[in-house]
Amino acid sequence: MRQTQIKLARTLRFWLFLSSHKSEMKGFAIVAVAVVVLAVALQTVVLRPSLGQQARNALQTLKEPPPELAAPGWALQIAEAGLAVLDQLGVAVKPAPLRAFEALFGFGLTQGLAALARMEVFDGLAEAAENGTTCEELVVFMRKRDRDRRPIPIRRLPVDPELLCRLLDFAAANQFVNKDQDTGRFYLNEFSVLFTQGADNLASVAPMLFHNADEINLGWTRLHDGIRDKLSAFELANGDDVWSFYDKNPEKSANFNLAMRSISANFAPALLLGYADDFKEFVRQYKRPLHLCDVGGGIGSVAAGILSDFPNATATVIDMAHMETQANEYFEQVHLQDRIKFVPGNFFQPLAVECDYYLLKHIIHDWNDTSSLDILKAVRANMPSHSKLLLVETVMETRNPYFERLKRFVDMQMLVVFRDAKERTQHEFNALLEFSRFQMKRRIPLRGLFDIVEAIPVETSGNQQS
Ligand SMILES: C[S@@+](CC[C@H](N)C(=O)[O-])C[C@H]1O[C@@H](n2cnc3c(N)ncnc32)[C@H](O)[C@@H]1O
Repeated sequence: MRQTQIKLARTLRFWLFLSSHKSEMKGFAIVAVAVVVLAVALQTVVLRPSLGQQARNALQTLKEPPPELAAPGWALQIAEAGLAVLDQLGVAVKPAPLRAFEALFGFGLTQGLAALARMEVFDGLAEAAENGTTCEELVVFMRKRDRDRRPIPIRRLPVDPELLCRLLDFAAANQFVNKDQDTGRFYLNEFSVLFTQGADNLASVAPMLFHNADEINLGWTRLHDGIRDKLSAFELANGDDVWSFYDKNPEKSANFNLAMRSISANFAPALLLGYADDFKEFVRQYKRPLHLCDVGGGIGSVAAGILSDFPNATATVIDMAHMETQANEYFEQVHLQDRIKFVPGNFFQPLAVECDYYLLKHIIHDWNDTSSLDILKAVRANMPSHSKLLLVETVMETRNPYFERLKRFVDMQMLVVFRDAKERTQHEFNALLEFSRFQMKRRIPLRGLFDIVEAIPVETSGNQQS
């Protein structure tokens, strides 16, 4: 009840604020905000489950495929359009000084979350499930975790519950976690569950959070120098280009591989939704199981996701030698060691294996045009004529301003990390493909931010044809 009162008081304050700035607001924005506020109030007061139930529901999401995979395409399109409207409205109604305040402290969201994930607070909330937990109980949980850890870590100082409480209040104010204002208990919600790191959450976002909060964040601090300099902001800040950096820092490299695995764990089902029919058609036409090569495939999580739906298919994962142990451990973990093989290799050299499909997921966006052409030409060199190239990338064109904003983040990340690498438009992909003796057949938008760009090998390159 008290929570409801607080929410209503907040809504009222917001309305007073809006009416005092009415002259600056566009009429449509006020009407739209009223509709949104009413909808949120309805959901908050009437329909919202209890905090305990929300925690239970959040844990349940770990056992189910993401809902967007089950939703029909038209429903997803409406939802995405709705997201864009809300996002643009949020910007339209917020006074510039407030937007500036949020931008000034934006880093606090990443770092605050990272601090909570490093202390495994989200796992503590998951263990408490529908009962929720106080800060003091969380501290006990962390001590026990520290004691149980093998090998036993360097002795750590106990966490100060008062400071932890402040961090959790910050998290609750940002709706990272839920807080019962009457009892002071904190609960997991559908956001914080994404950052749990237990064995039941192979798609945990925590490794990507650590990657962004640490070495990538350092890179962003040198962005202005990276734009002026010949080196990337990442290299200026971390002293090495990203691949040498991971070669020299095994722990960071292992975390990065987990970060890519988390994206890929969610991604394989989306890829299959968009492309499984083509794989099935291959099997029908050639009357044999398909063989997939995941070029620059990391520890092979996408290949593994595909193979789990195609019981006789096999795969070769080609990546840098330092990934081999982690990749092989992963294949055993997912019981696919008999069907996936890791081959250490350099994708700038012609590949030694022949495959039916050549998957390059998030490879080309790491490189400038010259290097991208070199990679594509090396892949093309020994490709059988029946085979297909599948580039999985963020293709920049979109009519949705919200997705445009997200895609620009990914593009900036490429600028920070590699300087001259980028996300590309369909036209740019087409040009790269033509110059490396491929013909683009289709762009298949997948659910989320990514697309498959499908191409087949042809004999003459586009520049020779013209
Ligand atoms: C952004 S990650 C993508 C990993 C994987 N495809 C995925 O989406 O999960 C880029 C990968 O390229 C690999 N890589 C970079 N340079 C390489 C090279 N010269 N030869 C082979 N792999 C390379 C990295 O080790 C890394 O695994």
